[in-house]
Amino acid sequence: MIVNDPKIEAPVLHLIGEEADRLGLECYVIGGWVRDLFLHRPSDDIDVVVVTSDKVTKDKVTKDKVTKEEGRSGIGILLAEAVAKRLGKGAHIAVFKTYGTAQVKHKGQELEFVGARRESYRRDSRNPIVEDGTLEEDQNRRDFTINAMAICLNKHSYGELLDPFDGIGDLERCIIKTPLDPDITFSDDPLRMMRAIRFATRLGFNLDGETFDAIARNKERIGIITKERIAEELNKIMLSRRPSEGWILLDKTGLLPLIFPELAALKGVEVKEGRGHKDVFYHTLKVLDNIANLSPALSSREGDKLEDRELWLRWAALLHDIGKPRSKAWDPQAGWTFRNHNYIGAKMVPKIFARLKLPLNEKMEYVRKMVDLHMRPINLIEETVTDSAVRRLLFEAGDDIDDLMLLCDADITSRNEQKVERFHRNYQLVRQKMVELEERDRIRNFQPPVNGDEIMAMFHLEPCSLVGELKAAVKDAILDGVIPNEREAAIQYINELWQKKQK
Ligand code: CTP
Repeated sequence: MIVNDPKIEAPVLHLIGEEADRLGLECYVIGGWVRDLFLHRPSDDIDVVVVTSDKVTKDKVTKDKVTKEEGRSGIGILLAEAVAKRLGKGAHIAVFKTYGTAQVKHKGQELEFVGARRESYRRDSRNPIVEDGTLEEDQNRRDFTINAMAICLNKHSYGELLDPFDGIGDLERCIIKTPLDPDITFSDDPLRMMRAIRFATRLGFNLDGETFDAIARNKERIGIITKERIAEELNKIMLSRRPSEGWILLDKTGLLPLIFPELAALKGVEVKEGRGHKDVFYHTLKVLDNIANLSPALSSREGDKLEDRELWLRWAALLHDIGKPRSKAWDPQAGWTFRNHNYIGAKMVPKIFARLKLPLNEKMEYVRKMVDLHMRPINLIEETVTDSAVRRLLFEAGDDIDDLMLLCDADITSRNEQKVERFHRNYQLVRQKMVELEERDRIRNFQPPVNGDEIMAMFHLEPCSLVGELKAAVKDAILDGVIPNEREAAIQYINELWQKKQK
């Protein structure tokens, strides 16, 4: 079949084909770019696989340009160099001799060249790839049928699709399936078990039955994969339209307790005296999907990538109840309780981030804060909403208050519609109160109207705990509404406190 799509007519693809013709090589665009072409999804990076054509002997190519040890895989580099030269000044080439690959960056596009391989395709494999292969052998060792399709770029068959495993059919059937026996594909690179689940989640596809069974069978092999590569897949799952689907597949295949035991521990319902609690795992996943749906309500802030904010708010949703199993208790009167689960959960966040190799920076701090504060707005509803309580929440959440309120909205998963409506209404009231107080008191990102140096100068003090005490007293007085958030009032208040202390 000849592919008929304007994207395949891109000048850069023709140029690659022409250079390959000139060198006597065959080349094909392959993998994600081809898949996304048929899915009508945007995709910038282009993977090109290169094969020596029948007309050219391996010896001729290797004699001229690449050493015997590098073998045929050096032809990827050969073509990349020719393409970079043709593209001229705007092109930057990076050569990875050990892997037999080269990357050309041009106008924001990445072109990746590699010689066809007989062995498993692994971009960051530690072992140099010296085993050369035919196109078909290369396609055999790729991860999924939908990622193994290739389109010829040589003039004689430009645009011809080579799809030996019916990747097109699997795209139509919405199936993720390995080209070979899945036990072989997954043992070549166990990360592919995560990739299968990631693609299924991102594309809204199902796992083929045998592929699913093989993941369940090989799950322990995930232990040899670095945490960083796993985290990359988890983040991609998290940024999908319905991230819950990925976590459910991780659970069903048995990977979940191996990579994230704390999340697996949320599963299940305990019943005592006829009273059960909700299954925290499924509740959490509902909250996560709710947050994913609410993402458009997030606004980007200066210096902040919107995708980043979405990602970490989603992690906050996933972790908001992570402390529940550890805080669960049975109270004969109240039934099941989860006291301080937000606090316990917040304390777990840094450890979980460290183990999953997620960043231990302000992103983690943001998630920790969200988990810690997620019960506060609901408590504001249940108690009568005092100005002081709202001010304190504004003070602690700072600029992240809007994200926190989104998380709280997402946390309403009751099936009782009246209840849901009542909660949303009450959160609106809390929001309104915040706006009123904000206009008056400017508490968000609170800066004390009198700082420690000034307090020391006022009373000729050396640095000591009293300075801290006075500062904290001013902050509390402002948050409790005893004095306005203004300098003069603060100075007068400190003076009064000082007088009292002198008596
Ligand atoms: N590949 C593979 N096994 C892996 C990784 C990659 O077989 N463990 C192959 C697949 O053919 C894949 C191609 O290499 O399509 C490119 O890999 P990559 O850039 O990681 O993924 P894409 O498929 O391009 O998808 P995305 O960019 O969405 O991650």
